[in-house]
Amino acid sequence: MEVIIRPDADAAAELVARLIVKELSANPHLVLGLATGRTMESVFSKLVRIHRETKLDFSLCSTFNLDEYVGLAPDDPRSYRHYMNERLFRQVNVDPRNTHLPNGQASDLDAECRNYEAAIAKFGGIDLQLLGIGQAGHIGFNEPLSALRSRTRVKALTPTTIKQNAPFFGSEDRVPRRAMTMGVGTILDARRCLLLATGSEKAYIIAKAVEGPITAMISATALQLHPRCTVVVDDAAAGQLQGAEYYRWIFENEPEWSEFRAAGA
Ligand code: GLP
Repeated sequence: MEVIIRPDADAAAELVARLIVKELSANPHLVLGLATGRTMESVFSKLVRIHRETKLDFSLCSTFNLDEYVGLAPDDPRSYRHYMNERLFRQVNVDPRNTHLPNGQASDLDAECRNYEAAIAKFGGIDLQLLGIGQAGHIGFNEPLSALRSRTRVKALTPTTIKQNAPFFGSEDRVPRRAMTMGVGTILDARRCLLLATGSEKAYIIAKAVEGPITAMISATALQLHPRCTVVVDDAAAGQLQGAEYYRWIFENEPEWSEFRAAGA
């Protein structure tokens, strides 16, 4: 795992956007794993800006989102499908047929989850998986006790997650109780993982995820097992990291990061 600390949320999102651009430019057929949530909004708006300014080409790439609420129609403004259509898919030249999210209204949810795994495999697996982190340490909707080898399935949401996502629904009692999510094992199969967290409210869980022991209680800790995982945080989210000084030194001195040092500066 490598940890990159940027001065603020905007610079952290800029770095993540530039890493995605670099991968997409090197491989136009990139299979991109996507995440939702407030943190990602800024990454998507930066990708849209870069697409407009540089003609960054999404036409050959395909996407797989981490998760979707059970019971929400794709055109429901609170669904992740709607979020993705509005914030990214309609604003760049990705082929809509190559964008994938689990169908929250599938009549057979287990079959839908199996089909989602099969679709990822058919596209050759995920090259780059973008990740946020919930305040309880989940990636996707892999709530506490998610098996570290789990695959796409239905998960019941914890009270913490329901509370965290309530602003999108108006109140906690309107948040769906279940979601379909890629499993921890599905995420670990991605060739590269890229996690973004910003703000002081993520500082505690980032320290646990990056420097704490691996545990199914905090699914993000499983990323420590991944051979190529980059965690990008701002100063606020880095506030409780023991090794912050070392991580900053790596970013400032290692040649592989030289082209990114000015990102968002
Ligand atoms: C939801 C999503 C997660 C996301 C998390 C963080 O729970 N299912 O994939 O990482 O929100 O959201 P935010 O960026 O709003 O803190």
